[in-house]
Amino acid sequence: MDSAVAPVRRRQRLMLRLSALANRVALSSRLTIGLTIAAVVISLATAINLAESPLGADPAINVALILIDLMVVLPLAGLIAFRIVLLWSARRQGKAGSRLHARLVLLFSFVAVAPAIVVAVFSAAMFEFGIQSWFSSRVGTALRESVQITEKYVDEHIIALQADIRNLASDINESALELMSEPQRLPDFFNRRVRERGIVGASVFDEFGRVLVGNVGSFSPANETPANLRAAISRIRRDGDIVLVARRGEHNIRAITRLTIFFDSNLYLYVSRPIEPTLRSHMMRMKEAVDEYLMLEGQRSGMQIGYFLLYGVVSLLLLLAAVWLGLYFANRMIRPISELIAASERVGKGDLSVRVRSFGQDEVANLSRSFNQMTGELERNREELVEANRQVEARREFTEKVLEGVTAGVIGLDAGRRINLPNRSASDLLGIDLESRIGEKIADIVPEFGEMMDRVERNPARRHGSEIVIHRNDRARTLMVRLAAERLGSETVGYVLTFDDITDLQQAQRTAAWADVARRIAHEIKNPLTPIQLSAERLRRKYLKHIETDPEVFDTCTDTIIRQVDDIGRLVSEFSSFARMPAPRMKENDLRTLCRQAIFLERSAHPAIAYEFAKSQTPLHVLCDGHQIGQALTNLLQNAANAIEEQGGPEGSGLDSGSGPAGTIAVTIDDDEAGITVSIADTGPGLPTDMLHRLTEPYVSTRAKGTGLGLAIVRKIMEDHGGELRLKNDYSTERKICGATVSMAFPATVRADKAARPVPADA
Ligand SMILES: Nc1ncnc2c1ncn2[C@@H]1O[C@H](COP(=O)(O)OP(=O)(O)O)[C@@H](O)[C@H]1O
Ligand SMILES: [Mg+2]
Repeated sequence: MDSAVAPVRRRQRLMLRLSALANRVALSSRLTIGLTIAAVVISLATAINLAESPLGADPAINVALILIDLMVVLPLAGLIAFRIVLLWSARRQGKAGSRLHARLVLLFSFVAVAPAIVVAVFSAAMFEFGIQSWFSSRVGTALRESVQITEKYVDEHIIALQADIRNLASDINESALELMSEPQRLPDFFNRRVRERGIVGASVFDEFGRVLVGNVGSFSPANETPANLRAAISRIRRDGDIVLVARRGEHNIRAITRLTIFFDSNLYLYVSRPIEPTLRSHMMRMKEAVDEYLMLEGQRSGMQIGYFLLYGVVSLLLLLAAVWLGLYFANRMIRPISELIAASERVGKGDLSVRVRSFGQDEVANLSRSFNQMTGELERNREELVEANRQVEARREFTEKVLEGVTAGVIGLDAGRRINLPNRSASDLLGIDLESRIGEKIADIVPEFGEMMDRVERNPARRHGSEIVIHRNDRARTLMVRLAAERLGSETVGYVLTFDDITDLQQAQRTAAWADVARRIAHEIKNPLTPIQLSAERLRRKYLKHIETDPEVFDTCTDTIIRQVDDIGRLVSEFSSFARMPAPRMKENDLRTLCRQAIFLERSAHPAIAYEFAKSQTPLHVLCDGHQIGQALTNLLQNAANAIEEQGGPEGSGLDSGSGPAGTIAVTIDDDEAGITVSIADTGPGLPTDMLHRLTEPYVSTRAKGTGLGLAIVRKIMEDHGGELRLKNDYSTERKICGATVSMAFPATVRADKAARPVPADA
């Protein structure tokens, strides 16, 4: 795995270093421009050199030019190869714009190369045809024939010269006899003849070169070199005819012949004839040209190769320069586009802070500017949105804090009456974790609210409120519920449900009202009770023995009066004790002892019931009003006994007959961190579930003889001690009620050894 990854990494690193180098070297515009200018200058110089002397160029210069060309070609080719490798790698890496870049480079290069190739082919063809026509046979013959023409011309002159000299010689030979007789006539005769024949220069000279008659100067034999002259004379002697002194390349042509008449005297005739000077120079040049032509024709193939080489190098140079320029411009063109693409990718990933550079005034620059404007606008909008969101969030947080702070339950519902935003009090009051049930319909979770929800839907404009009793965990709570619809125009967008637990308030109100009634009744009834009772007892004592008819009736009636008055007295004293519940006098008491005493009293009153109390010797000292706690315990034990006896039969009898215990009452004390709890559990019929929440209210009783004050008093005592009274039913495994457990829960602070509060002095 590692061995496969390592080369890739190494290659990537290499590529990175290469592109860094490229940015420094290959992309340097100065280098590019320099190389391109050098290429153009060099190729121009080569072209000019070729044009000036296409065939006769100095080979040394050609070689030097080719070398210089190569010096530019090689780095250019290297750089281009390098650029192409970079481009290829960028494409492989999928860099932004690399595809477009490659395509542009290809296009540019093609555009640059295509004309170069066309020109190259065209020039090669032209060159081929040019050279071919240069060396065509017609040109060759024309050249050769023109040389022949000039030669013919000279030959004609020579023939004319020969005719001249022959005629002049025969003239002299014919008149030789006369002239010999009169030698003084010779010059006249000679000059006349020369003139008649139209000869330019003629003279007669002896074998030593001395001129006897005729022209002196430029047309005399004295101009000839002695060697030439001697050679000519010896040839005449041998061949005996006319001899030409020189043929070509001179200003004139000359001929010499022997005058036969002076046989013995050895005299010679010298005639010269000038040649046209322009014709001569023409001839010279033509000859040179033809010679050169013939030489070149010999070297033709070698030269052609050289020419092609030079041309090829120049073409290559121009081609490379074109490709390089193509690369350079493609690079320059693509750079802003690549930047734009990369920037768009970053914007796509959420980075709105990107900006691209924009140069110039062209469309790409406009695009870059628009892009920057767009991202700027987007960024500003996003910032505004974020800010707005932050404010909304802050407001929401504040609202939530407020909602959390209030003791009332508040639930925000959406238009579909689904839970949206509950506060903690709502969850606490309903005994349901509403946070985990957001999105559910409120009517499914709290069916008691259903009816009210229907009402508000029928009449959303009004605020609705009502007291709703909900039952949770064997407890009924009375909630004051208010419901209001949130409306936007005529449309309901949600609801706000607020509610408060008014159970305790209601109880307190009722308790207060009853206490007031109790006080009045006690006051009004208690006073006449004692005289009534005393009077009834007196009547009975005094008159029973005097009654003769039906003394039993009298006895029963007075007895009933006394008993009922007694009952009423107890009732009234209970009333007044409830109404005038004094503040507890806190003292250190052993809770176990208090329980034991209460159980002892009850056990003697209800021998049929089995009492269980875990015997523990370690006292549990608490700060409490021992009298009140004892009263509370007695009340609870009495209730338990009443419940068990109630179960036993409608008349409550048969228990004394003693066939095993009718029921069990178990008293336990739990002492833990949370506090101290005294629980009294019985095996009776259990608490009436339908009125469970009201049992602790005064005067709520299910018993015919009950006052309904027992639990109310216990509750009052517990509240005065900072604790509470808890009622619950016990269930058997078949989920049937198998008794009630009533608990007195004291807070942990009630412990005497831990409690810090001062013990009030006992009165
Ligand atoms: N241990 C219990 N088992 C069953 N019901 C009980 C028990 N304790 C109290 N109750 C119910 O609570 C009611 C109220 O009790 P209480 O306030 O003591 O009044 P009273 O005893 O005068 O009826 C009783 O009438 C009875 O129905
Ligand atoms: Mg009672």
